[in-house]
Amino acid sequence: MRLTVIGTGYLGAVHAACMADIGHDVLGVDVDAEKIRALAAGRPPFFEPGLDEVLARNVANGRLRFTTSLREAAVHADLHFVCVGTPQRPDSTAADLRHVDAVLDGLAPHLRDGSLIVGKSTVPVGTTDRLTARLAGLVAAGTTVEVAWNPEFLREGFAVQDTLRPDRLVAGVTSAYADAALRSVYAPMLAAHVPYISTDPATAELVKVAANSFLATKISFINAMAEVCDATGADVVTLADAIGHDTRIGRRFLSAGLGFGGGCLPKDIRAFTARADELGVGHAVSFLREVDEINLRQRRRAVAIARDLAGGELAGRRIAVLGATFKPDSDDVRDSPALAVAAAIHRAGAEVRVHDPEGTDNARAALPGPLYGTEVTDVCRDADVVLHLTEWAQYRALDPAALAAVVRAPRLLDARNALDADRWVAAGWDVRALGRPVPAPVPGLLPGSRLTIPQSVPADWTAPIEADVLSRAPK
Ligand code: UDX
Repeated sequence: MRLTVIGTGYLGAVHAACMADIGHDVLGVDVDAEKIRALAAGRPPFFEPGLDEVLARNVANGRLRFTTSLREAAVHADLHFVCVGTPQRPDSTAADLRHVDAVLDGLAPHLRDGSLIVGKSTVPVGTTDRLTARLAGLVAAGTTVEVAWNPEFLREGFAVQDTLRPDRLVAGVTSAYADAALRSVYAPMLAAHVPYISTDPATAELVKVAANSFLATKISFINAMAEVCDATGADVVTLADAIGHDTRIGRRFLSAGLGFGGGCLPKDIRAFTARADELGVGHAVSFLREVDEINLRQRRRAVAIARDLAGGELAGRRIAVLGATFKPDSDDVRDSPALAVAAAIHRAGAEVRVHDPEGTDNARAALPGPLYGTEVTDVCRDADVVLHLTEWAQYRALDPAALAAVVRAPRLLDARNALDADRWVAAGWDVRALGRPVPAPVPGLLPGSRLTIPQSVPADWTAPIEADVLSRAPK
């Protein structure tokens, strides 16, 4: 099928490449000419495992082309996927729909009768109806155009696999024609028995924000438990393992630590809260404010523990930060908990040195203050404290004894509960975590045996930190 994908960020670039890969004739569109040049040359403008191959293959075979012209898009196809960003508004927690509106406004005068516009971006419930009404006033007289919503659930780091083999497809449509068109687009997935849920646009829009709200709630639930664990000497990792064995609960998304970030979860729960307020049902999702607050609190707790490890004062201390991206296997630093902590510590006067396997360019652009290094050893040299903030596999493979030899003092905060604390303790490190007792070596006991001491989280951890401002700023 001939189709266009408008907006070639994380979502659109992956969608365009994957749609070409399953046989469609795809034109990708973006206002960013530099991005379009890179994509047309088969180069992804961001780090996403596997995307380079799919992109290069389909640019080479001619099924995937790119342009900056919406007029060209309307000439190429009658089916247009809209994948532009819907960031948080600068002046409120609501979603900023200016890019979606701009696409519709630019496309409308060129659309042919019977065109179908399929939104994939995450939007407030009611957007499909609003856009349908808006388009009616913009298209040529006698032209009928339909809008449908087909939310995307891809995870960064797994974007290609999530697009080619999704858990489910959701189509919010108002006609049998739109439903049939989407079934044709996704025919290979349907043949592979991917569940396809055909529903009204409002339900489809809500599925996406409800799914992300649930995931965010699950993470904040376990982080709330981590706070209770810290007050009692209990271990949140064992707690998560134990409750996760209950198949009704499940272990996934129960990893306690620095909390969630990225371009979706934080902004989506805030936009949902704002939209629910507009609809007069704010009370129904008021718990999402608490979910957000628990999440931001983990960053403050990490800063407080770092200060404690540094001897009560961050100013003048050298702090090594391992990880800048919002999660591993991504170069994305949008609303990154790791970068928010690095920013707060930098503002408190520490000399911050940051390492990240893929995200340093983006991190430096978002937070120019700290020094960025390409080698863990250089970043950790003479450090007073090491903070493990994003759980890249490379950090799990570090040799704690070798690293102890380069730092000024072997003190570690594992804010992702991902390192083997016993190994680090055995190599002489003072190890702290979020929601786990502090392990201390026990002389005379078997290797691996340890005495555990409840963590004392310093009293000032509830004080707001400036990093919250950073965390809320759209990229
Ligand atoms: C998320 C949704 O998973 C995806 O379905 C949606 O389309 C977009 O938003 P993504 O932003 O790529 O995807 O990240 P995800 O893997 O969901 O992780 C989100 C954040 O939660 C990360 O910062 C991660 O570190 C954190 N997280 C995740 C935890 O803190 N604990 C967990 O147990 C899981």
